[in-house]
Amino acid sequence: MSNWIHVCATDEIDEEDLIRWDHEGRTFAIYNTDDGFFATDGYCTHEQQHLEEGLVIGKVIECPLHQGRFEIATGRALNPPACIDLKTFPVKVEAGDIYIAL
Ligand code: FES
Repeated sequence: MSNWIHVCATDEIDEEDLIRWDHEGRTFAIYNTDDGFFATDGYCTHEQQHLEEGLVIGKVIECPLHQGRFEIATGRALNPPACIDLKTFPVKVEAGDIYIAL
Protein backbone atom coordinates (compact mmCIF):
# COMPACT_ATOMS: atom_id res chain seq x y z
CA MET A 1 0.00 0.00 0.00
CA SER A 2 1.29 3.44 -0.88
CA ASN A 3 2.42 5.80 1.79
CA TRP A 4 1.58 9.33 0.65
CA ILE A 5 3.94 11.96 2.01
CA HIS A 6 3.38 15.69 1.78
CA VAL A 7 6.05 17.47 -0.28
CA CYS A 8 5.04 21.13 -0.70
CA ALA A 9 2.38 23.40 -2.14
CA THR A 10 1.98 23.33 -5.92
CA ASP A 11 2.89 27.03 -6.19
CA GLU A 12 6.30 26.38 -4.60
CA ILE A 13 7.59 24.92 -7.89
CA ASP A 14 7.76 27.28 -10.85
CA GLU A 15 6.34 26.11 -14.16
CA GLU A 16 8.87 24.18 -16.26
CA ASP A 17 11.09 23.80 -13.22
CA LEU A 18 11.95 21.40 -10.43
CA ILE A 19 12.95 21.47 -6.78
CA ARG A 20 15.11 19.29 -4.63
CA TRP A 21 13.21 17.51 -1.87
CA ASP A 22 14.99 15.52 0.84
CA HIS A 23 13.21 12.98 2.98
CA GLU A 24 14.56 10.44 5.49
CA GLY A 25 18.05 10.38 4.04
CA ARG A 26 16.92 10.19 0.42
CA THR A 27 16.79 12.96 -2.12
CA PHE A 28 14.29 13.47 -4.89
CA ALA A 29 13.53 15.83 -7.75
CA ILE A 30 9.96 17.14 -7.95
CA TYR A 31 8.90 18.64 -11.30
CA ASN A 32 6.24 21.01 -12.51
CA THR A 33 5.66 20.40 -16.24
CA ASP A 34 2.92 21.13 -18.77
CA ASP A 35 1.72 17.56 -18.14
CA GLY A 36 1.55 17.98 -14.36
CA PHE A 37 3.74 17.19 -11.39
CA PHE A 38 6.23 14.31 -11.31
CA ALA A 39 8.87 12.89 -8.99
CA THR A 40 12.14 11.07 -9.68
CA ASP A 41 15.27 10.18 -7.79
CA GLY A 42 17.26 13.34 -7.23
CA TYR A 43 20.57 12.08 -8.53
CA CYS A 44 21.46 11.49 -12.16
CA THR A 45 22.15 7.80 -12.84
CA HIS A 46 25.40 8.63 -14.65
CA GLU A 47 27.34 10.18 -11.77
CA GLN A 48 26.43 11.60 -8.41
CA GLN A 49 25.10 14.86 -9.77
CA HIS A 50 21.88 16.24 -8.30
CA LEU A 51 19.35 17.17 -10.94
CA GLU A 52 18.08 20.25 -9.10
CA GLU A 53 20.28 22.53 -11.20
CA GLY A 54 19.19 20.73 -14.36
CA LEU A 55 17.04 22.13 -17.11
CA VAL A 56 13.42 21.15 -17.67
CA ILE A 57 12.77 21.11 -21.43
CA GLY A 58 9.15 20.20 -22.00
CA LYS A 59 8.82 16.56 -20.88
CA VAL A 60 12.57 16.12 -20.38
CA ILE A 61 15.11 16.85 -17.64
CA GLU A 62 18.65 17.61 -18.75
CA CYS A 63 21.42 16.87 -16.26
CA PRO A 64 23.59 19.94 -15.60
CA LEU A 65 26.89 18.01 -15.57
CA HIS A 66 27.11 16.15 -18.91
CA GLN A 67 23.72 17.00 -20.43
CA GLY A 68 22.34 13.47 -20.20
CA ARG A 69 18.56 13.60 -20.64
CA PHE A 70 15.67 11.68 -19.11
CA GLU A 71 11.97 11.59 -19.80
CA ILE A 72 10.46 13.04 -16.62
CA ALA A 73 7.24 11.00 -16.52
CA THR A 74 8.90 7.61 -17.01
CA GLY A 75 12.52 8.24 -15.97
CA ARG A 76 13.68 6.74 -19.28
CA ALA A 77 17.28 7.63 -20.19
CA LEU A 78 17.18 9.35 -23.58
CA ASN A 79 20.77 10.07 -24.56
CA PRO A 80 24.36 9.34 -23.54
CA PRO A 81 26.12 9.48 -21.22
CA ALA A 82 22.93 8.70 -19.29
CA CYS A 83 21.98 5.09 -20.02
CA ILE A 84 20.31 3.91 -16.80
CA ASP A 85 16.72 5.02 -16.22
CA LEU A 86 15.80 7.25 -13.28
CA LYS A 87 13.50 5.78 -10.66
CA THR A 88 10.12 7.51 -10.62
CA PHE A 89 7.49 7.83 -7.92
CA PRO A 90 3.72 8.36 -8.05
CA VAL A 91 2.59 11.92 -7.35
CA LYS A 92 -0.86 13.27 -6.54
CA VAL A 93 -2.18 16.78 -6.02
CA GLU A 94 -4.87 17.49 -3.45
CA ALA A 95 -6.16 20.92 -2.47
CA GLY A 96 -3.09 22.67 -3.85
CA ASP A 97 -0.56 20.36 -2.21
CA ILE A 98 1.77 17.78 -3.76
CA TYR A 99 2.13 14.29 -2.29
CA ILE A 100 4.57 11.55 -3.26
CA ALA A 101 4.09 7.82 -2.72
CA LEU A 102 7.17 6.09 -1.31
S1 FES B 1 26.15 13.18 -14.19
FE1 FES B 1 24.33 13.41 -15.33
S2 FES B 1 24.91 13.07 -17.38
FE2 FES B 1 26.76 12.80 -16.25
